[in-house]
Amino acid sequence: MRPKKKQAASIAPEADIILSASNLSRRFGGVCAVDNMSFELHRDCITGLIGPNGAGKSTLFNLISGVDRQQGGSVFLNGADVSKLASYKRARRGMIRTFQLSREFARLTVLENLLLSPQQQLGEHLMPLVFRPSVVKSEEHNNYRRACEVLQISRLEPLKDEYAGNLSGGQKKLLELARTLMIDCNIILLDEPGAGVNPALMKTLTDMIGDLNRNHGKTFLIVEHDMDMVARLCDPVIVMAEGRKLTEGSFEDIRSDTRVIKAYLGGSLDD
Ligand SMILES: Nc1ncnc2c1ncn2[C@@H]1O[C@H](COP(=O)(O)OP(=O)(O)OP(=O)(O)O)[C@@H](O)[C@H]1O
Ligand SMILES: [Mg+2]
Repeated sequence: MRPKKKQAASIAPEADIILSASNLSRRFGGVCAVDNMSFELHRDCITGLIGPNGAGKSTLFNLISGVDRQQGGSVFLNGADVSKLASYKRARRGMIRTFQLSREFARLTVLENLLLSPQQQLGEHLMPLVFRPSVVKSEEHNNYRRACEVLQISRLEPLKDEYAGNLSGGQKKLLELARTLMIDCNIILLDEPGAGVNPALMKTLTDMIGDLNRNHGKTFLIVEHDMDMVARLCDPVIVMAEGRKLTEGSFEDIRSDTRVIKAYLGGSLDD
């Protein structure tokens, strides 16, 4: 059975807008990867971002998260203009992203990957290590406790001592999501979390995202090609094509939209 969805974001009041992007643009030579793209994310919703290969979805993620700089337009996070902030500063304001290709530390274990994730750890600096060792220890202890919780949530507990480089593609995707949970964030941007994930793990991943949204107050923006996952989780769904927003609505609305079907080269979203 499909998880119960929250109220459609399209009717949420303005105060619930957690992220707003307006007129974002990014060109690469002659290619206009993102072309005057505007959209909003509503608090506590899971918004889907779909579109054919090369539509500009990952480039848009890079602009929102600050990994790349827009050539026009702006990004507002919780009402504050973050357009010029570096990605780590946007992360400190509660917005975390994952990448289309997993970026785990291959030669560290799953647990070590989690323990490395929190930003600004006191133990990274010499002075607290020398003068406040008990505070450093207590922070490390808290991080360890949180990592144990996250291992349970992500069902990676049996793999905690495995090198991340030895994980399957699907397990690496779970680890990517798990790492975001080590950071105090309320917006999580996932770029193709389901890519290369087998059906059993896909269910774990989908359930985990649904649970984080319903019970832990996480707002998601998810780029995904797996339409079953989009149908189960996302409302609303934004459709991008050739760098622009083609349309936005519920999955039921967009699946029957002829413009969307045409953008997918005449294929059906049920494929
Ligand atoms: N660093 C870059 N240099 C040159 N062109 C780029 C660069 N990054 C993206 N592009 C181009 O911008 C367009 C959008 O790419 P992008 O990766 O954002 O698409 P996408 O929607 O994420 O596609 P996919 O579904 O295949 O991941 C493509 O034509 C791509 O070739
Ligand atoms: Mg992409």
